[in-house]
Amino acid sequence: MTDSKIDTIPSGGPRLAHFSDMHVFLPKYGLSWRDILSKRVAGWANLRLAGRAWRFRHAGKVLEAFAADLNETRPDHLVFSGDAGCLGSGAEFDLALNRLGGLLQRPGVAVPGNHDHLVQRSVDNREFETRFAPWQQGIRAGEDAIYPFAQRVGGWWIIAVNSSAPTRFPWDAKGRVGAAQLARLDSLLDKLDNSPRLMVTHYPAMLQDGSPEWSSRRLLDLDKLVRTAERGGVRAWLHGHRHNAYHLPPAPGRPFALICAGSVTQTRRWSYGTYDLAQDRIRGERRRYNPESGRFESLLAFEIPLQRAVA
Ligand SMILES: [Fe+2]
Ligand SMILES: [Fe+2]
Repeated sequence: MTDSKIDTIPSGGPRLAHFSDMHVFLPKYGLSWRDILSKRVAGWANLRLAGRAWRFRHAGKVLEAFAADLNETRPDHLVFSGDAGCLGSGAEFDLALNRLGGLLQRPGVAVPGNHDHLVQRSVDNREFETRFAPWQQGIRAGEDAIYPFAQRVGGWWIIAVNSSAPTRFPWDAKGRVGAAQLARLDSLLDKLDNSPRLMVTHYPAMLQDGSPEWSSRRLLDLDKLVRTAERGGVRAWLHGHRHNAYHLPPAPGRPFALICAGSVTQTRRWSYGTYDLAQDRIRGERRRYNPESGRFESLLAFEIPLQRAVA
């Protein structure tokens, strides 16, 4: 489908541009003893020894092409679902935002990925949250905690939930929302008006084929989050973490659509999505980077119904 055909589809709701898993990295890391004793050393090994740096070697120029492409797709709101960096350092976030130009001046929402919240020190210092503060404005259930929060976007509520928490062991990439955040999410969903809701996390609810995420990469309190989202009338759930893009319609026992943005920068997977929201459906377009032209181009168009499934 061509861009012009997609532009003629009437929407009525806001258009989102959803991108994820930028994974920018620094040319050189000055790791301190504290870093060497932390999970950062596993992140470094994953980057330099396990091929992540090679897979994301074009991240800088692809991010610049992505920012330029937004002038073509003209979203009303940007959604970033985490993994800006690799080792969760402020310098990585600065680099990512530098490549994106003035993107933070546009309206948007951001949640951290497991690589952004890799170590407790960076979480405590709010390294991610300080940089992405313009995309973390919204209504909260309480004053003290950043997550969750809700933003009003063109007649919809976008609910941002943090599903990433530091873990101890190198092989452990599990996510966790936590009981306290789940309770705040319940209260937040309760106090919003009846407008349709869309939730954003880093971790997925399931894989492309509908099977659960691998046990070492799973969201520990997934079931509780699913039930909370269901009770709170969430109609669509946007996420990242998996670097291949996919989308699933609502199904019995899961009354919301799922959309994984995939990675915007990983070589050959490089893509992002635009979504035109309506009360009863999302019309989406997936755009993929073309290394020949150095630009993002339309790959496919899709539509997902949003009505509640009958179990
Ligand atoms: Fe990732
Ligand atoms: Fe991730």
